[in-house]
Amino acid sequence: MNTETPSLYGAYAGTFKIGAAVSTRTIRREGDFIAKHYNSLTAENQMKFEEIHPEEGRYDFAAADEIAEFVGKHGMALRGHTLVWHNQTPDWVFEEADGSPASREKVLARLRDHAAEVMTRYKGRISAWDVVNEAIEDKSDAYLRETKWLSTVGEDYLEQAFRIAHEIDPGAQLFYNDYNETDPVKRDKIHRLVRSLLEAGAPVHGIGMQGHWNLYGPSIEEIREAIELYASLGVRLHVTELDLSAFRFDDQRKDLLEPTQEMQDLLTERYEAIFRLFREYRSAIDSVTFWGVADSGTWLDGFPVRGRLNWPLPFDRQLQPKPAFWSILDQARV
Ligand code: GLA
Repeated sequence: MNTETPSLYGAYAGTFKIGAAVSTRTIRREGDFIAKHYNSLTAENQMKFEEIHPEEGRYDFAAADEIAEFVGKHGMALRGHTLVWHNQTPDWVFEEADGSPASREKVLARLRDHAAEVMTRYKGRISAWDVVNEAIEDKSDAYLRETKWLSTVGEDYLEQAFRIAHEIDPGAQLFYNDYNETDPVKRDKIHRLVRSLLEAGAPVHGIGMQGHWNLYGPSIEEIREAIELYASLGVRLHVTELDLSAFRFDDQRKDLLEPTQEMQDLLTERYEAIFRLFREYRSAIDSVTFWGVADSGTWLDGFPVRGRLNWPLPFDRQLQPKPAFWSILDQARV
């Protein structure tokens, strides 16, 4: 590691936190690098329902504890991710022993047990929780995503989840988190959802904008409009899963082993413009988290096109800063 490189989070001290998604593998292998550049961590998978609570009554906290200890040792923030989601949640949560759908009461009781166990364990250490992840439908003609939470509990499952989480840890900031959050149609649905939760008196404190974007979109104007709309609800904003894929979502191209020069230049320009915008809205944004610490650990290697490499982050596979890193750093000083 180049010791001359300034700390990314240090450059943004007083503006917002700079975070990264990690695993036990990355904190073991790249711990010094992570501690140098990030002051907020999110467990990429280790706090998800299926990992931490694979069977009824059986919890496995080993990996999540290791991440929480690393965070404590370095005085970082920790974001809890996530309690209620349609993915990576085991079927038993929604079923009776014979496989038939469990009752609303049973699913809510299981959610309460889960949240009590997990949130209590990390009370005072996790400052923000993604209470519900990705509840909005992407298709424009539907509102809530069809999930087992919705079909077993009913439409108020989000309200219930926020109330339960707040009862268990009244000190935690509670977030609704989603992707495609800048798409005008989905954005308006997210706004409607959070507004209706607030109107019902549910304790929602923030919106997580995942920020799985790419080199070509969304436009800065679309991101700005989403930030403005969400901030108008009076909640806090976290950018929770930022990365900029080198490819448009439907691009199947598979021939590259390195990013082209044009891709590298676009990455630099995009990060510069995006951080300029984030900085402009620093009174609403408390935290910006990258989904991965460097290109060596990106989930976009292989998604959505199998066997394809990607280069979405400001640090390369050798953990070296790219020109994009320096453009982000420059924005901190403007
Ligand atoms: C979503 C989830 C994350 C993660 C990413 C892909 O955005 O919120 O937990 O699974 O997808 O890695």
